[in-house]
Parts: sequence; C-alpha cells; structure tokens
Amino acid sequence: MATQFIRKMSTGAHLGQIQRVMILGGGSMGSGIAQVAAVKGNDVTIVDTDDKILSKSKAAIEKSLKRVAAKKFKGDSEKSDRFLAESLARITTDTDAVKAVKDADLVVEAIVENLEIKQLVYKKLDEEAPEKTIFASNTSSLSIQDLAKSTKREDRFGGLHFFNPVPVMKLVEVIKAPGTSQQTFDILFKWSESLGKTAVSCKDTPGFLVNRLLVPYMIEAVRLHERGHGSLQDIDTAMRLGCGYPMGPIELIDYVGVDICKAVTEVYQKAMPGNPLFDSSPSVDKLVEDGKLGIKTGEGFYKYGAKGQKL
Ligand code: CAA
Ligand code: NAD
Repeated sequence: MATQFIRKMSTGAHLGQIQRVMILGGGSMGSGIAQVAAVKGNDVTIVDTDDKILSKSKAAIEKSLKRVAAKKFKGDSEKSDRFLAESLARITTDTDAVKAVKDADLVVEAIVENLEIKQLVYKKLDEEAPEKTIFASNTSSLSIQDLAKSTKREDRFGGLHFFNPVPVMKLVEVIKAPGTSQQTFDILFKWSESLGKTAVSCKDTPGFLVNRLLVPYMIEAVRLHERGHGSLQDIDTAMRLGCGYPMGPIELIDYVGVDICKAVTEVYQKAMPGNPLFDSSPSVDKLVEDGKLGIKTGEGFYKYGAKGQKL
C-alpha cells in the first residue's frame, strides 16, 4: 500500500511542492514557524484550541515581523509596511483542525510535548487529511516513529525540529524515522532550506542532536544550584561570560519553558533508565506543579514583566 502510494506520488504534481502549510499549535514555536513560512511565500493556517490563543499568536507574529522588518529595510517604511502586510495576509487562523487539514500539503505540529495527546491528534488528522499531505512534528524529544505509528502514513511522516526563537535561530533538525521515505525526508529538508534555515539530518533518537546535549546541561545547572554550589544568577553569569553563550542555562530554561524541559527529561529517563545525567530536579518539578513555566506564564526561576523582561 505504502509502496503504491510512493510510486503514485513520484509522478504526481505535488512532489516537493509545499505551498499550503497547516501549523497545529499557535504557541511560541507554532507562531514562529508560521511566521518564517509566511515570509517565504507559503499560505499558512495556524490551528489552536481557541480564538483568544490565536489572537495572541497573530499579535506575537506581528511584533516579531516588525523587528525583522526594522532590520531588513532599515527605515524604508514603504518596503517595511509592504513586507508586513504581505506576510500577515498569508496567515489565517482556525480552531477547526479537520477543516484546515483538507487542503494542506504539509502539517507541522507544535502542540504540547506529550506522546499520548500528540498520537490522538495525529490519528484524527490522518483520517481527514488528503493522501498527499506530509506530517511533521516539531517535538523536542519524542520518537517520531512512535508518533507516526498512530497514522497510516508512516512514509509521509518526519520530524522538523525548529529552535526558539524561530525567526532568529538558523537551524532545523530534519528527522528521518525508520518509516520515513527518502522522498519525504528530501522534501522536508528542501522545505527547511527554503525558509532560509540550515538543515541537518538526524536519526530518530531521543532529543536528536541539540537537545540530547542541551537539556542535560540545563538541568545539571539547576542541580548545581540545588547542591548549593552557586546562586542562579551566578550560574547564568558564569556561562554567559565564561563561555560566551547568549543566555545562561537557567535563563534558557525559562525561555524554552520549564514544562518542556521537564517533559524532555522524562522522555530521556524512560528511554535510558538509570543514567544520572537525566535525573529529575525537585525545583523543576515544583515550578511545573505551581504552573510557573517561565517567561510564557510570567514566572519560572525568575520573574518577568508584561513584555517578557526579567524583573
Ligand atoms: N523575532 C524576531 N527577531 C528577534 C526575536 C524574535 N522573536 N527575538 C530576538 N530577535 C532579534 C532582535 O531583533 C535582535 O536583532 P538585532 O541584533 O539585529 O537588533 C536580535 O534578535 C537580538 O535580540 P535582542 O537584542 O532583543 O536580545 P538578545 O541579544 O538577548 O538576543 C536571543 C535574544 C536571540 C533570544 C538570544 O538571547 C539567544 O540567542 N538566546 C539563546 C536561544 C537559544 O539557545 N535557543 C535554543 C533553545 S533550545 C530549543 O529551542 C529546542 C527545544 O526543543 C527546547
Ligand atoms: P506552547 O505551550 O507555547 O504552545 C503549545 C500550543 O499548542 C498552545 O497554544 C496550545 O493551546 C496548543 N494546543 C495544545 N493542544 C492542542 C490541540 N489538540 N490542537 C491544537 N492546538 C493545541 O509550546 P511550545 O513551546 O510552542 O512547544 C510546542 C512543541 O514544540 C512541543 O512539542 C515542544 O517540545 C516543541 N519545541 C519547543 C521549543 C521551545 O523552546 N519552547 C523548541 C523546540 C521545540
């Protein structure tokens, strides 16, 4: 069945032609991915659970586009306004995923980092999406194959791991799961490059390349503090000034989302049990329990003002 489809697809009109993109989840990552796709001429629909979130998502995109335009057009307000208007005009929003998926060439999913929830959503979307539609997950750590298995399109399923903030970070990890066809992988790789990003090829291993190194480092920074070896501020300052990193590890946890870091750590614990590198951190667990998820909720390890500035 899958082989038949690939043969059909290789002669079809859709090979490599990603034009209509559905972004599932309009949070930090979904908004950023929608933005960069729209800037490069894709027709984008962002789907989230309610209109209030979608309004916030569009406002965040507009704010970010203004920053990009200020840099790109340096005071040329006519060009800047046109860039903003044209990019925004390519973005629509919807709360109905089933409707939005009907004409999508590509679905990029960026919802909560939870295997069961993602699988449920994929199962439903798979029943409604056209055969041609490629599914890609922006998961930080979950197995792409485990997600793909909830659909009947394992060959048209891969990973596209973008980095936060998407308009600034230049990398996309493109993940080829065992079931991902070479053709799908090539399309995803090419599409990432068409957004102006550098793509790297990754195997379907927990955390892929970046997060396998980055998340244990961030959580170890918290454990360092828990052991009384340094204040949060001093650990951040040490890594910023001692290593030239743009943010310290604790600041970065708040930026990424404390909940995301906890979820990623739990994936590692399950996949590689007993490795102390992936031990939980009581402070991380407590913050998540209290709903203090970082900049997005106004408080994590640090407190933030309405514009996301550290207080
Ligand atoms: N949209 C558009 N432009 C933005 C932006 C946004 N959301 N955020 C920042 N920028 C631009 C600014 O306009 C500014 O441009 P100029 O230098 O041309 O003026 C530039 O980026 C720097 O921004 P700021 O001056 O406001 O602030 P900064 O110098 O502190 O940089 C930062 C902010 C880019 C976020 C920087 O601190 C940084 O790189 N931090 C580390 C981010 C990181 O490591 N991300 C990866 C996280 S891990 C991940 O994403 C994977 C996962 O699965 C968890
Ligand atoms: P977020 O909490 O900012 O946004 C998630 C959004 O998904 C929310 O707006 C939520 O309402 C929406 N959502 C949840 N269930 C939904 C459903 N069934 N249908 C439609 N929308 C739904 O999260 P985020 O930081 O954008 O992360 C999203 C994904 O991207 C996660 O898998 C995460 O691991 C991954 N990721 C995060 C980062 C990061 O730095 N935050 C970086 C790379 C990858």
